[in-house]
Amino acid sequence: MKSLVLLSLVTGSLFAAAPLANNTCKTCHPKIYKEYQNSYHANASVYKDKVFAAIWHKHPASKKNNFQCKQCHTPSDKGLMEGKYKLHKNAVQLHEPISCQTCHQIKDVEKHAKANKNIYTTKPKTFYAADPEKKGTKVEFKEERSFLGLFTKTTGSPYHDIDYSNELYYNGGSCLGCHDHKQNAKGFTVCDLEVKQGDTKENCISCHMPKVKGAVANQKATPVHSFHGASALVSDPSKLSKTVALTLKEGEKGFDVVLENKANHTLAPHPLRLAQLRVTIQRDGETITLPVRNFARVIGADGKPAFPWLADAVLKDTTIKAFEKRSFTFDKPLQKGDVVTVEFGYYKVNPKIAPKLELDPKEVSKFIVLKKKRFTI
Ligand code: HEC
Ligand code: HEC
Ligand code: HEC
Ligand code: HEC
Ligand code: HEC
Repeated sequence: MKSLVLLSLVTGSLFAAAPLANNTCKTCHPKIYKEYQNSYHANASVYKDKVFAAIWHKHPASKKNNFQCKQCHTPSDKGLMEGKYKLHKNAVQLHEPISCQTCHQIKDVEKHAKANKNIYTTKPKTFYAADPEKKGTKVEFKEERSFLGLFTKTTGSPYHDIDYSNELYYNGGSCLGCHDHKQNAKGFTVCDLEVKQGDTKENCISCHMPKVKGAVANQKATPVHSFHGASALVSDPSKLSKTVALTLKEGEKGFDVVLENKANHTLAPHPLRLAQLRVTIQRDGETITLPVRNFARVIGADGKPAFPWLADAVLKDTTIKAFEKRSFTFDKPLQKGDVVTVEFGYYKVNPKIAPKLELDPKEVSKFIVLKKKRFTI
């Protein structure tokens, strides 16, 4: 009994500062909530993401617990954002560092050299959303009873207003307060997705939040909703596989593999990542493995790779840019009957970097195949 009381006291103080807002959304949007639980956005804090924690603990600011990463990694921890307390384990950090409403209340994105900035609406319980048919409108909850009171027809959400007029929820601009770029204190650009926003058919939302089966809300039985498990890496890379095209062209001395990136951003540009193109040939019951091509953006100082806060130069950049088509020549003549397997994928943490972060490469450096194609000659 005593330990029970103690436990509730401890958890009480731990969770008191931060009531979970997402629990409200959960009651009416259970499918989206469930997907979200596995997303990167639900797991963006040092208490959930080992890789992030490993880098943060090496960062000089961590000694003073001056958590400079909060703007993008844990914007929903209000007390932390307002400077009322320092980074500590609480319910928001554990369950909703980037919460439903944080993402649905981005009114505008300000462009800055250091990093862009989200401007949030101050209107309570007003969420932005996209619906081409309702574009430009704002929907408030309405309940209409039929003449005899036998039927009720409702519009909108009984809990919140919806604003369908924000372009950023149609073109993916709402992602770019956090995802565009980031400079370190030296003014050096550490990360840059090098986004080419424009009139493209696909955008951040259509590629990373494709329509999947299941109702939008308990009260609104739509056949599909936008996928909220946003992660190229953890859940289902095959959802994204159509955005990388692989073709093979035979030549006299060998063959070319052509890779086309249909995304409007550089592939795997984060300094921790390593992407690879792997090619094997099946011939007469044997497997011939051809040299692997690596793609990475290596940053550093004094000619050597360095942590992001120390880096001041790009040492090497072989990443594949937005809409780029790149050809790779293999000096290996093909024969009739050969089966050529081409794979494009990547490591979330470059296996060479993992040990430097005291991370187990077996755990954090799995090769994730984004696209695999077989060509029979
Ligand atoms: C009491 C039930 C209820 C709660 C609680 C609730 N919603 Fe909703 N929500 C709805 C319903 C019903 C709709 C569909 C309204 C329509 O389309 O007419 C909706 C629609 C939405 C939409 C727009 C969907 C579209 O049309 O594109 C968003 C965004 C949204 N909710 C976010 C949230 C978030 C974030 C929370 C938690 C803070 C939340 N909702 C809590 C019932 C609820
Ligand atoms: C301007 C917004 C922004 C700020 C500020 C920011 N980050 Fe990030 N961070 C991101 C985004 C967006 C991603 C996902 C990037 C991707 O996968 O391309 C990310 C990813 C990461 C990752 C990779 C995580 C993984 O699991 O692979 C690490 C590590 C990281 N950030 C460290 C930091 C640290 C440490 C700080 C603070 C000193 C920080 N970030 C501040 C936006 C930011
Ligand atoms: C409030 C800041 C913020 C906003 C807004 C945001 N993200 Fe993120 N996103 C992050 C951070 C931070 C991470 C990395 C979390 C980590 O790994 O610790 C991330 C991770 C991701 C990842 C996984 C990255 C990987 O390496 O696989 C994808 C995909 C992603 N976001 C897509 C989107 C899309 C699409 C939108 C817009 C609909 C969006 N994000 C909006 C902050 C944000
Ligand atoms: C990374 C930012 C981000 C997060 C986090 C996020 N959403 Fe969304 N959500 C979006 C975007 C962008 C859309 C697509 C635009 C649209 O359809 O309204 C969307 C769409 C929706 C829709 C409409 C779905 C449809 O098919 O039309 C609902 C409802 C919704 N979100 C609820 C939630 C709830 C509930 C959570 C938390 C469990 C949540 N969102 C978390 C960005 C986010
Ligand atoms: C045509 C489809 C497509 C579009 C449009 C698109 N992406 Fe991607 N995105 C991908 C694919 C495929 C990957 C996986 C390869 C990779 O990790 O780079 C990816 C990866 C990512 C990653 C992980 C990068 C990393 O370092 O591991 C983030 C973050 C991301 N996208 C965010 C965005 C944002 C933000 C937008 C809008 C500006 C966007 N994406 C638009 C297809 C797309």
